[in-house]
Amino acid sequence: MTPLRFLGICGSLRRASTNRGLLRAAAARLPEQVTLDVAELSDIPFYNADITEKPASVVRVLKQIADADALVFACPEYNYSLAPALKNILDWASREPNNALIAGKAAAIMGAGGGMGTSRSQYHLRQVCVFLDLHLLNKPEVFSNAFAGGFDADGNLTDEKIAALLGDQMRALADWTRRIRG
Ligand SMILES: Cc1cc2nc3c(=O)[nH]c(=O)nc-3n(C[C@H](O)[C@H](O)[C@H](O)COP(=O)(O)O)c2cc1C
Repeated sequence: MTPLRFLGICGSLRRASTNRGLLRAAAARLPEQVTLDVAELSDIPFYNADITEKPASVVRVLKQIADADALVFACPEYNYSLAPALKNILDWASREPNNALIAGKAAAIMGAGGGMGTSRSQYHLRQVCVFLDLHLLNKPEVFSNAFAGGFDADGNLTDEKIAALLGDQMRALADWTRRIRG
């Protein structure tokens, strides 16, 4: 079986992020031959076309994206949409000639937020991914409530049902990635 590298990209920058907690829980439930690293976005500046030489932090994350077989987005919901840190790194990544960095890559989305479980922001992110030509996994979807006792104070996932769903999603993403790579 081909080994696969997943890259987690989290839209929340805060230390005790529940969305980052989802990525940690997913990383603990990967199928065989799959690894998941998480990109650090806290030092990524806002995209600005006047910045002609990419900052080292941007180069670092774009290389991680290039090296990944699939992307795993942890997508908080800010005012009914995706968080700026997540959109910003996708904007940086999309400026490579012919969108070569991300076009055709597999991806999956998970999220922790209010009562709707980030469904609204996830569907906005899906729309963005259409233009980016990412191949998103459809199911299982992972919508979790960050305020209903499913996470501890450090953002670690304690909800066993969501944890099992993350394991299912990582298995599905591995199958999907291998299918679309042929
Ligand atoms: C600017 C802002 C806007 C928010 N808007 C929403 C929202 O529209 N829907 C929602 O479910 N939660 C909303 N929230 C709450 C976030 O979902 C909550 O802070 C969540 O825990 C963020 O993820 P994190 O734990 O990974 O930081 C908002 C939070 C912030 C900071």
